[in-house]
Amino acid sequence: MQPPSIDASADLAGADLADPMFWARPLEERHAVFAALRSQPGLPFYEEPEPSTNYATVVPHGPGFRAVVRYADVVTASKDPATYTSGQGAVTVIDLPPDMVEYFGGMISTDRPRHTRLRRIVAAAFTERRIAAASSTIQHLADRVVDAVADRGECDFVVDIAAPLPLAVICDLMGVPTSARGDVLRCSNVILSGGDPEFVPEGTDPVLSYAAAGAELTALMEELAAFRAEHPTDDLTTALVTSNIDGESLTHGELASFFIMLLIAGNETTRNALAHGLWAMTCYPDQRRRWQDDVDGVGPTAVEEVLRWSTPVTWMRRTVATDTALAGEELHPGDKLLLFYGSANRDESVFSDPESFDVLRSPNPHVSFGAGGPHTCLGAHLAHRELDVMVRTLFRRLPDIEASGDPDRLVSSFINGIKHLPCTFTPEHRRPTPII
Ligand code: HEM
Repeated sequence: MQPPSIDASADLAGADLADPMFWARPLEERHAVFAALRSQPGLPFYEEPEPSTNYATVVPHGPGFRAVVRYADVVTASKDPATYTSGQGAVTVIDLPPDMVEYFGGMISTDRPRHTRLRRIVAAAFTERRIAAASSTIQHLADRVVDAVADRGECDFVVDIAAPLPLAVICDLMGVPTSARGDVLRCSNVILSGGDPEFVPEGTDPVLSYAAAGAELTALMEELAAFRAEHPTDDLTTALVTSNIDGESLTHGELASFFIMLLIAGNETTRNALAHGLWAMTCYPDQRRRWQDDVDGVGPTAVEEVLRWSTPVTWMRRTVATDTALAGEELHPGDKLLLFYGSANRDESVFSDPESFDVLRSPNPHVSFGAGGPHTCLGAHLAHRELDVMVRTLFRRLPDIEASGDPDRLVSSFINGIKHLPCTFTPEHRRPTPII
């Protein structure tokens, strides 16, 4: 089950990054296109497709975008938020209407000074101490997830293992009741589906589905926030509702928007990193053996390599605020740029043999959590912790787990997702008890 090699001389003529069908092409073909783009000067431009007639009135036909595909250029744009802004029309390709930015954008779609204020309030609650305290909970949740499949000998790794853990962790941190977790998963699947028919049925308008899912999550969070304001506990929701940083706290609307952001940002990303991790271990059994033989020694670099190799978030958008130049191209206010993290993470000028999965890769300055700057992922510590705990739990309890078929990939330009990944393992009750 080796991944195919990459042909960097890909034909760019038919490669339209703005066409949803491009993202349905096999991963190795897409990687070949990005390798070819990196080898060419400038920032390639793509026309935006006409918005669907159902929502053409709320989403105007945009001017198109430029693709930032080289590592150095992604870093430059990320670290200069005054020139490359996040607040204009959201970090999506299309300019979302302002009320939808509130739902789905949250602080990731704001600039200074609003972003600074939101990030300060949230960072004060979302501390490393709180994450460290959540660690034993993460181990407990990981064991419960594995308990549910351990005796089956096979399962869908994404549905049964990779998806439940991050969802349970975020819901646990926020204090979302168990009874609401199925709805939370359904809504976050819709919002991040990119319109994939498995989550947004054919004939249903994706934007209306996103809005309905956003409204449902907002209602849930507003209810929870109101309850926690009256009945405080030690969860993150209580910390956020009662936070007071220099006299400022989050409004209930901001809290709901942050909750959606956490669910979206923390759920799908970690889930996909885990799924790609199992796929990588299956494709590269020698690398897996190294990791499994020395979990403490190799684990730290191996987790970073899973993050680089998988790059769960393919891009973020920035909008140019002032006349400037990047990669030799003149840019003007209003120009949209997509920062392609997946391409930066395979830039051969930074990573040797970038297609291969190397658990000892060091240094590994990947940009999977962003390339520096004010929006760098707030949940990176949590994501590392979840990946580390789940891999250790699998090595301990289902040590021969491996993918037993190809990944069924999400068709999305934004999330490098795996919807289903069949896997097999020796049922836990049939494994011989180790003799100590
Ligand atoms: C493997 C897992 C994850 C990946 C790959 C990932 C990736 C990213 C990326 C690329 C950004 C944007 C960076 C930028 O624009 O410069 C981001 C922002 C963010 N992430 Fe993550 N993320 C992950 C997990 C999480 C988790 C677990 C949480 C929280 C529970 C989280 C919360 C956030 C938040 C709140 C932001 C916005 C920060 C801001 O705008 O100031 N992420 N993440």
